[in-house]
Amino acid sequence: MGAAGRLPVELIRAKRDGESLSPAELREFIAGVTDGSIPDYQVAAMLMAIYFRGMTDGELAAWADAMVRSGDVLDLSAIARPKIDKHSTGGVGDKISIPLAPAVAACGVAVPMVSGRGLGHTGGTLDKLEAIPGFRVDLDVARFAAQVAELGVCLIGQTARVAPADKRLYALRDVTGTIESIPLIASSIMSKKLAEGIDGLVLDCKVGDGAFMKDAERARALCTAIRAIGHAAGKQVTCVLTDMDAPIGRAVGNALEIAESIDVLRGGGPADTRELTVVLGGEMLCLAGVAASSELGQARIARALDDGSALAVFRRVVAAQGGDPEVCDRPAAVLPQATRRLPVLAPRDGAVVAIDAEAVGMAALVLGAGRRTKDDVIDAAAGIVLACGLGDRVTAGQPLAELHANLPDGDPRLAAAAARFLGAVHLADHAPPPRATRILEIIR
Ligand code: URA
Repeated sequence: MGAAGRLPVELIRAKRDGESLSPAELREFIAGVTDGSIPDYQVAAMLMAIYFRGMTDGELAAWADAMVRSGDVLDLSAIARPKIDKHSTGGVGDKISIPLAPAVAACGVAVPMVSGRGLGHTGGTLDKLEAIPGFRVDLDVARFAAQVAELGVCLIGQTARVAPADKRLYALRDVTGTIESIPLIASSIMSKKLAEGIDGLVLDCKVGDGAFMKDAERARALCTAIRAIGHAAGKQVTCVLTDMDAPIGRAVGNALEIAESIDVLRGGGPADTRELTVVLGGEMLCLAGVAASSELGQARIARALDDGSALAVFRRVVAAQGGDPEVCDRPAAVLPQATRRLPVLAPRDGAVVAIDAEAVGMAALVLGAGRRTKDDVIDAAAGIVLACGLGDRVTAGQPLAELHANLPDGDPRLAAAAARFLGAVHLADHAPPPRATRILEIIR
């Protein structure tokens, strides 16, 4: 703490009692988080005080800005193109970044994308990309910037030097019951995104049982907080609320999701996966100022998917990041394949009225597609391919999905994953009205 400043314990007490802290006090507190001079118990107490008391817009902006400045902030100002990223709050089967980033780059916008790994039942873009043999996500900042300048897109993981305050805060939140706080989630997300040197951000805020935000009201509150942080930093932020009431697309699992992403990049793929790519991409082009409206932006993204230009960018990105670009032409020959494929059969006739995304994610995790502990090694080939979607009618004995695994005969994980998957699919006598779109709301 500065000589004249209040001690950490005084700041904790003040926050606990509902007082607003000044920007200077918040900056000092984050400095103490970053350099380790404030011990875990005091940081945790402050997090709990914020959890209960929330933050004013002014506090939020100062806290988030201090988190951004706790580490390296990329300077991409030498790149003339507008620089726009997309962030998703995380969903099962959410592979959208993979077709989206090259499609947006093919339309003239730079996408400096720093992604994460899988967390619990949700997969991570980095794990998916690493399913492509040779693909490297650990490029240094200079190579990252050079590739964004040359190809318009680079996809890497967060370095230890990006927002180190968030690393410590996140780890403490995880074990102190303070994850579910809107200002803490918003500042955590934005500290990493604003460090990328972007001009604007499109946030895909998932809503539903399989998401962080279980209902639209909380999702809107998160979007408001994220937009407040973005605007205070002079960045434009568009938030898209999207339905996470079932896995996205048909593939859940790393290599399987790359194959589905390539389908989208070839102008095909499941309707919802293409829709999310087109809508989020349209918003990114609008923010960048290269499309006059979302509709025009969407049309440009759709064209980039259909005319091969998005796939051409992806091919160059794969090659530049050490992967085998043949994956674009012969995904099944290049991507790892599971030795075992087991159908899961419908137990009765009926209509599919719900598919619990979280339970499907957990079933895929049991097969090896995700991590139970942070040191677990992922099996890139493992996962689930759904053979049914919401509203489909099925008959008893019809496959609902195919499990992909590299597990020996009789391994209990096969039966456990099948049981979890069956528990995720709800059958009823009557089908619900078909869902027309995954897009719930767009906040510009
Ligand atoms: N993602 C983040 O980066 N931080 C959070 O707090 C929640 C989701």
